Amino acid sequence: MLIKVLLVLAYCRLYECNIVSHYDTYTGGKITEEEYKEHVKKNTTFWCVKDIVACDPNEWSRVDGSCNNLQHPSYGAIHTPQKRILPAAYDTDFEPRRAKDGSPLPLARYLRTSLMPQGKVPDQVFTQLVTYILPFFTSDAGTLQDTINYVLWKPYCCEAKGKCDRSCIPNKVPDLDPVHRFSNVRCMNLTRPESFQSMGCTKNDTTPDRIVSSTPTIDLSTIYGNSMESLNKKGRQFEKGLLKSEFEDGREWPPSTNSKINICLLNQKPAETRCHSTPEDGSNSIAGINIFTIWFWRHHNYIARALSKTNPCWGDERLFYTARDINIAMYIQILLYELFPLLMGKDNLANNNIISYSPGFRDMYDDQLLPQMSAEFSTGFRWFHAMQEGSLKMFDLEGNYLRKFPIVNMTLRTGFLAVDNNIDYITQGSFRQPCAKADYVVDPDISEVILGPFQRAADVFTSDLAKNRYFGFQPYVKYKQFCNNKNYASFDDLLDSMDPERVEMLKDRYKDVEDIDLLAGLWLEKHIDGGYIPSTLFCLISEQMLRSISFDRHWYERPNRPHAFNYQQLAEIRKSSISRLLCDVADKVTKIQPKGFLRAGSGNQIQSCERLQKINFNAWADNSCCMKKS
Ligand SMILES: *[C@@H]1O[C@H](CO)[C@@H](O)[C@H](O)[C@H]1NC(C)=O
Ligand SMILES: *[C@@H]1O[C@H](CO)[C@@H](O)[C@H](O)[C@H]1NC(C)=O
Ligand SMILES: *[C@@H]1O[C@H](CO)[C@@H](O)[C@H](O)[C@H]1NC(C)=O
Ligand SMILES: *[C@@H]1O[C@H](CO)[C@@H](O)[C@H](O)[C@H]1NC(C)=O
Repeated sequence: MLIKVLLVLAYCRLYECNIVSHYDTYTGGKITEEEYKEHVKKNTTFWCVKDIVACDPNEWSRVDGSCNNLQHPSYGAIHTPQKRILPAAYDTDFEPRRAKDGSPLPLARYLRTSLMPQGKVPDQVFTQLVTYILPFFTSDAGTLQDTINYVLWKPYCCEAKGKCDRSCIPNKVPDLDPVHRFSNVRCMNLTRPESFQSMGCTKNDTTPDRIVSSTPTIDLSTIYGNSMESLNKKGRQFEKGLLKSEFEDGREWPPSTNSKINICLLNQKPAETRCHSTPEDGSNSIAGINIFTIWFWRHHNYIARALSKTNPCWGDERLFYTARDINIAMYIQILLYELFPLLMGKDNLANNNIISYSPGFRDMYDDQLLPQMSAEFSTGFRWFHAMQEGSLKMFDLEGNYLRKFPIVNMTLRTGFLAVDNNIDYITQGSFRQPCAKADYVVDPDISEVILGPFQRAADVFTSDLAKNRYFGFQPYVKYKQFCNNKNYASFDDLLDSMDPERVEMLKDRYKDVEDIDLLAGLWLEKHIDGGYIPSTLFCLISEQMLRSISFDRHWYERPNRPHAFNYQQLAEIRKSSISRLLCDVADKVTKIQPKGFLRAGSGNQIQSCERLQKINFNAWADNSCCMKKS
């Protein structure tokens, strides 16, 4: 009887009293019970409906991203629309736009091989850590479903069956391809990006809008997941604020999965058994993401243990959410104030308000902005594949080179990290090995076998370029115009930001300057003054970061968000650095250069961790804990 009463009460709390509402993911509006039933009938609730418990303006940021904007609670959750910086440009039936003269645009694979040939050039500035953290960052707000789609769900795009499936859009390999003229590969698998239209959330005669499976906020979704259910089930230990973890040979790991679906498809059994299960299994993917997932997973527990020591009277809930908040803040601090200035130039960032020169609070919150990533940012960011090195080098703890291993063979294979002390040697390599130089040359593994044993041939640059067209991006020069207000009417106008030989290459491949694809332009553009990335990419990143800082009600530098840091706490967060993070949670790191994203050398010598500044958790000391003790 009692149970029945409780159940009725619980039901009332959740539904009848209207505390949980159904939202349409596409429009962001509330839907009626009738409309909801319609979705259930069509089996479209997973993609098209988001159930949201009424917002409380004072609660911690939600793991599922809802209620970030109190007026539009569904935005910020997964499966909500991305922003387009410029309106879509498609041909009829939403097929890729054509060249100005009406002919099809040049083949993506032809453009890649002829504009970005293969080679290996070591960067003189940056370490592998850069190319590990960047995909970790994009997987926080990006999505992997488009790759899974053609590898697992629709593996037939290069076969006869693919011709009859509209979602198959394989890339043709030309007969004179520099690599495949010697093979019989004439096709590379690819599927059309999933959209609100393809998922049945809205009519399919409207402009396709991409649907993504992650929250648009920078909030370590890779660690905490995108839903409360998965966090509670797979992540939280519900004890002392900790995430579940397993200790093996003195190392702390995210728990290994027990699920039937083996996501570590490349683990070499029987030796390699460890397989991370984090709330978001998308965090178990390529090497860089897997390594950073281990580090930030441990870092959460590192923070929770420190807080629990400082404040023995705090309960699990408070410890967990405070540790999560600090973990996210330190992560953003490292990205925004350490990595981005090195890549993009500190003054460039400060002049665009992306960073602040002053260490105090800043509040740029604007409730008129919806939590959204731009489609152009997510795709433009893939320019960084040009810095990806294919051979991962391992070093011993003294920095002696041991051996190398193809990074593409480590995808979906966390077991490799846990055997033969590999993680120690890979960790040493992460700050000792340079990444590849972004100099118009791409690594042969990244451009030919990016998916390792999963595909006979796969070129990530070709897929990236092709997708520009399927996302309906306008020509490159329209984005240049958006960025600097200049009109680009002829190829020669590009000489303001490209070397003459690059302009000549484009002139040879495309017929009109307005034909050039966004990514192709980014590939050949000169780097921004004071930085190492193309100026138009800087503009797309700035546009996004400025909105990310302004749309996020829970942004860590705000003084008046719920549970905001006080001044002293923020000052501690500002001490974060990638090298300190490695000293604190990576395997057997006792010495490292202070600026871990930069190669060690004069002015950045490898030195003891003792000499790197450390966050002091006493800033979170809660006096009420001592009062309770005495
Ligand atoms: C319903 O949709 C889900 C999510 O897209 C899918 O996994 C499932 O197979 C679908 N069920 C049916 C009966 O089509
Ligand atoms: C829209 O859906 C109809 C029916 O399923 C299909 O025949 C048509 O090709 C689709 N159009 C687009 C642009 O996806
Ligand atoms: C990497 O994977 C390929 C298959 O794609 C295999 O032929 C090769 O031997 C692997 N390399 C190593 C070092 O395991
Ligand atoms: C296309 O995908 C299938 C299934 O994943 C794979 O077996 C095949 O090797 C792929 N084709 C190429 C050219 O890589």
